Amino acid sequence: MNRIKIHDKEFEVSISSEKIQDAVSKMAVKMNSEINNKEVVFIGILNGSFMFASDLFKKITFDCCITFIKVSSYQGTSSTGEVKSLIGINENLKGKTVIVLEDIIDSGETLENIISQLKGYEPECIKIATFLFKPLAFKKSYKIDYVGLEIPNDFIVGYGLDYDGFGRNYPEIYTLVKS
Ligand code: IMP
Ligand code: MG
Repeated sequence: MNRIKIHDKEFEVSISSEKIQDAVSKMAVKMNSEINNKEVVFIGILNGSFMFASDLFKKITFDCCITFIKVSSYQGTSSTGEVKSLIGINENLKGKTVIVLEDIIDSGETLENIISQLKGYEPECIKIATFLFKPLAFKKSYKIDYVGLEIPNDFIVGYGLDYDGFGRNYPEIYTLVKS
């Protein structure tokens, strides 16, 4: 499918599933070669990261755990900047290496807030892995350790990302068509 319609908006395919899988594999190869810490916990940020987390995790070859947490800060097609608290951390993260898995970093607000809340659990270190990154929208200065693909400052759906809850199911990524 080249074009999809969600609610009132039209989207056109911009990143194929082959390109997505290739980028995820490269992230896993880099992690597998760099990370040799003892206790590693991946933390996927729901809902958006579930597909990326699943694909990446299958390619990780070191001993590790995975868990998921939830925050929500986005309505419609622009970031509200309002960040809620983390739901779902039951693990003891003290002294562990945490690798946060995010679907996309846009302004960087959401993740900055997540990082500062995660620090309260006293992990040994926190690494950031985002599948997509919008460098032109990023307003923060923290280090992003692993990036799958850099994309322009457009609104996208698919591969876990949504427009008002819909569009997460597509294995490729679609960009909002300018009108
Ligand atoms: P930030 O706080 O501006 O970095 O926004 C990050 C969050 O907004 C991500 O976790 C996504 O859930 C959502 N988001 C950012 N850009 C897009 C997009 O293009 N499509 C769908 N969701 C997005
Ligand atoms: Mg998200």
